[in-house]
Amino acid sequence: MDELKRQAAARALDEVRDGMRLGLGTGSTAKHFVELLGERVRDGLDVVGVPTSETTRADAERCGVPLATLDQIDRLDLTVDGADEIDPALNLIKGGGGALLREKIVAAASDRMIVIADESKWVATLGRFPLPVEIIPFGAAATQRAMATAFAESGVAGQMAIRRTADGHVFVTDGGHWIVDTHLGRIVDAPRLAALLSAIAGVVEHGLFIGLASTAVLAGTQGIRVVERRQS
Ligand code: A5P
Repeated sequence: MDELKRQAAARALDEVRDGMRLGLGTGSTAKHFVELLGERVRDGLDVVGVPTSETTRADAERCGVPLATLDQIDRLDLTVDGADEIDPALNLIKGGGGALLREKIVAAASDRMIVIADESKWVATLGRFPLPVEIIPFGAAATQRAMATAFAESGVAGQMAIRRTADGHVFVTDGGHWIVDTHLGRIVDAPRLAALLSAIAGVVEHGLFIGLASTAVLAGTQGIRVVERRQS
């Protein structure tokens, strides 16, 4: 599986050109991309990256990738990131690694987003993977009640759980927020659910990435498949 992730990352690297400003994703697949990018930088490639998490920042620094922030660069040419699920419209669930807020800010500031993954992330309908929603700790119970209403209005339901670390502490994001994970099973109308969640006061961001990915690079045992988003 890890070899497939690296193959997807290597294919995305083919799209990188000298002078590009890059969004650098988070997770085990995106980490391969950062490492391969570092090798190219050592060979003279001139790029600058904006990391989507403190973990990716540390990885990129270790690999020698020059970094900047979105305060220094107004627009990115390309973001390369992983995903937890990808559907045929190239809508995504992200946030399994807890970096969804910065990942979405960086993706939204990019002209193009390539999602890299092994084939197991490809699904007919989003929702088998628990949907991460980043919330403000203040009023967490009220926010979850509002989330339950949003789920019901979009025709889904599921058990919510505040994410915890392996040693039992509440997981805190890079932005100081909490994450609520919900097993929804099958999200019938992801764009509608995304809009309903975005309208809740205590929700900082959610892991539904609608219309952000332009290309998916999927590595399977039979080879690499590249899927482009159809223009609507
Ligand atoms: C990080 O918050 C996530 O959005 C990751 O991009 C996603 O969980 C995929 O991670 P892997 O590449 O480790 O599967």
